[in-house]
Amino acid sequence: MTDDNPYSRGCAWVDGEYVPIRDAKISLLDVGFSRSDVTYDVVAVWNGKFFRLDAHLDRFERSMKSLQMSLELDREQMAAILTECVRKSALRESYVEMISTRGRPSRESRSPWSFQNLFYAYAIPYIWIVEPDKQETGSHLIIAQDTVRIPTSSVDPTVKNFHWGDLTRGAFEARERGGSVVVLPDLDGNLTEGPGFNIFLVADGQLYTPDAGVLEGITRRTILDLATEHGLTAHVAPIPAADAGRADEAFMTSTAGGVMPVTMIDGRPLGDGTPGPFTMQLRQAYWDAHDDPRWTTPIDY
Ligand SMILES: Cc1ncc(COP(=O)(O)O)c(C=O)c1O
Repeated sequence: MTDDNPYSRGCAWVDGEYVPIRDAKISLLDVGFSRSDVTYDVVAVWNGKFFRLDAHLDRFERSMKSLQMSLELDREQMAAILTECVRKSALRESYVEMISTRGRPSRESRSPWSFQNLFYAYAIPYIWIVEPDKQETGSHLIIAQDTVRIPTSSVDPTVKNFHWGDLTRGAFEARERGGSVVVLPDLDGNLTEGPGFNIFLVADGQLYTPDAGVLEGITRRTILDLATEHGLTAHVAPIPAADAGRADEAFMTSTAGGVMPVTMIDGRPLGDGTPGPFTMQLRQAYWDAHDDPRWTTPIDY
């Protein structure tokens, strides 16, 4: 591929066609846009290989089922479209999104069960929630006080969704309080998650991550798997927001950025104020795993 590859900034699949990302457009009538009636998933491509593609497709299929959506495409066809988006873009490091919307209403009915659900996908250059150079110093995390996470009885956070009003409001609150990232508590005062990431705390050499009120992140799962392999104890349990500042270390996990150190919570440094040793050990293990054949699917460019 040469530099004049029209897909070099990304490639999308919209209405049954591959298009350069700048030309990828959806209808204003798609209720995925107007009603957040949508689910999605994001898988990374690193060094020319999908990372844990099966786990992402499993979660995407579970999310669709939970929302009573179905597509004419099967799993292999979806995987083939994702692969082709990456192949056409020629990106070796990519953020690859798959989306299923409820679709567009017909003249006859606006009932959600009457729609034909639609599939969209795209591959763009890899996205970092925290840029690698900023990861070296670590982020300042704010635990929101004015915003709680939408109750799970209203929106199921294990179904990856676009209901980001609370997360976005929390991000503004964090900025006002001098932080760079936010985690929201739930109505009971336990930690949940932030915009696009799960949270881990480390105390006395053991890991803690919230058990409920969160997307079950594939990066979170990878860290739990790697922790076991490294002989670390991990607790998936409620974490009172009030306890967070007492942790020795903290980090965020996301497909968009991996393991991202937190060095300050609510204005108070954790440990010596630099990314902690367990965080750095797991971050290294996480990126090393991107070459592990059990978790990777090479792309034939
Ligand atoms: C709300 C939320 N929590 C957690 C995550 C992390 O999930 P994963 O590790 O699968 O990327 C995401 C990812 O986008 C997210 O949107």
